[in-house]
Amino acid sequence: MNELIRNISNYGIVPVIKIDNIDKAVPLAETLISAGLPVAEVTFRTVQAEASIRSIVETYPDMLVGAGTVLSVEQVDKAVDAGAKFIVTPGFNPKIIRYCINKGITIIPGTSTASDMAAALEMGLEVVKFFPAEQSGGVEYLKAVGGPYTTLKFIPTGGINAKNLNSYLSLKNVVACGGSWMVKSDLIDAGDFDTVKDLTRQAIQIMLGFSLDHIGINCIDLDEADGIAKKVSKIFDFEYKMGNSSIFVGKAVEVMKFPFLGKKGHIAIKTNSVDRAIAYLSEIGISFDENTRKLDSNGKTKAIYLLEEIGGFAIHLLN
Ligand code: 3PG
Repeated sequence: MNELIRNISNYGIVPVIKIDNIDKAVPLAETLISAGLPVAEVTFRTVQAEASIRSIVETYPDMLVGAGTVLSVEQVDKAVDAGAKFIVTPGFNPKIIRYCINKGITIIPGTSTASDMAAALEMGLEVVKFFPAEQSGGVEYLKAVGGPYTTLKFIPTGGINAKNLNSYLSLKNVVACGGSWMVKSDLIDAGDFDTVKDLTRQAIQIMLGFSLDHIGINCIDLDEADGIAKKVSKIFDFEYKMGNSSIFVGKAVEVMKFPFLGKKGHIAIKTNSVDRAIAYLSEIGISFDENTRKLDSNGKTKAIYLLEEIGGFAIHLLN
């Protein structure tokens, strides 16, 4: 997976945009950035696509802007010249794919059948779009093709919304989901960027699924930890479970056997994806303590601490 696709994977959602009025391009980009999702696929479904990409990239050079609904190599050239960082096609067009590969342009071609997927692998592609996702068999289809095509990864798009987003993102062959549900044309045309922002933030929160996992209490030694753990266990009849560095009481309370991170202790927040949570939280100005990053066997982050303590508590994320 190249770095650009990894970034798309960490953002998790790619807003698919159709811009009819060039004046809406920059305010829309600003809205997505301020919601914490600095990525967009601007579709060549309107004559304003090229100019929109250009003005967004000029104003926000760091935003990950790609071109979608690309139907010809001429459009690839126009999109790249305007600053598009990746190209998305609705269908599997070998001519466009070869053109992009030869020029070193990241291409995410549409696939909807096992034959398209076989051809994509043959051409050396690792990540493709699955389009139109819902109409082509959705989650069940992706599960089925994950059997034979174990290495191919997908960005399903088409019919995805806040309700079915996580059923796609939880598949191990899904890199991210594309969709227009938070950037509907009527909202853009009406300049209703407050609603776009609300829907984008809602999509991010659904994707990340933040919730409290447990509270950690710091103690000076095993004796103190043991006393506190037994007390909590007795009051609530929670199971007392001795570990290496702490005692767990039920699932909600962890009593540390020594003064650990955080003046008072720590708060563990669980999420559907620590890597995606890091990408989002970094966008809104949160920093992380890299020394605390723990990876799983697939190289995905399974836990990390925020740099900042809140109210005397260190905060860590976990999957
Ligand atoms: C696309 O071009 O990828 C789709 O039109 C986006 O599909 P959606 O509008 O159903 O999200």
